[in-house]
Amino acid sequence: QISNVQLINLPKVFDERGNLSFLEANKHIPFEIKRSYWIYDVPGGEQRGGHAYITTEEFIVALSGSFDVLIDDGRNKQRISLNRSYYGLYIPKGIWRSMENFSTNSLAFIVASTVYSEHDYQRDYSQFLMLNNASQES
Ligand code: TYD
Repeated sequence: QISNVQLINLPKVFDERGNLSFLEANKHIPFEIKRSYWIYDVPGGEQRGGHAYITTEEFIVALSGSFDVLIDDGRNKQRISLNRSYYGLYIPKGIWRSMENFSTNSLAFIVASTVYSEHDYQRDYSQFLMLNNASQES
C-alpha cells in the first residue's frame, strides 16, 4: 500500500566546510543494504523505472538535482518530488514505481535490500494490477 511509502529525513551535519549526510542500514532506513545503484545522464523527458519488485525494498535519494517518483499500489497513485540530498523515499516491496522529470545533471542514488535479480521484477502493469488487487481483496 502506498501508505507504507515513507519520506525519510536523514541526518544533516552542518559545517562551514560543507554539509554532510549519511544513512545506516536498519537505523535510518528499515532494511539491510545489499546493493546500491545510481541513475544519471538522463536525457530530458525520459522515464526510468516503470516496474514493481516482488521482494525488494528501496530507498531513493536525489543526491543532485531533482526528479519525481510516481508510486502506485494498484489502487492509489502519488507523485513525490525529490530535490534534496538529506531526505529520500522508502518504497516497500509490491509498489509500482517510476521516475520522471529529471532535471539536467540530476543524480538518483538508490539503496536496495536485495542483490540484482531479474526474477524479482514485475514489469507487466496489468499483471501487477491483477496480483495486487487479488491480494488486497480481503
Ligand atoms: P532496470 O531496473 O530495468 O531499470 P529501468 O526500470 O529504469 O529500465 O535496469 C536496467 C538494466 O540494468 C537491467 O536490465 C539490468 C541492469 N541492472 C543491473 O545489472 N543491476 C542493477 O542493480 C540494476 C538496478 C540494473
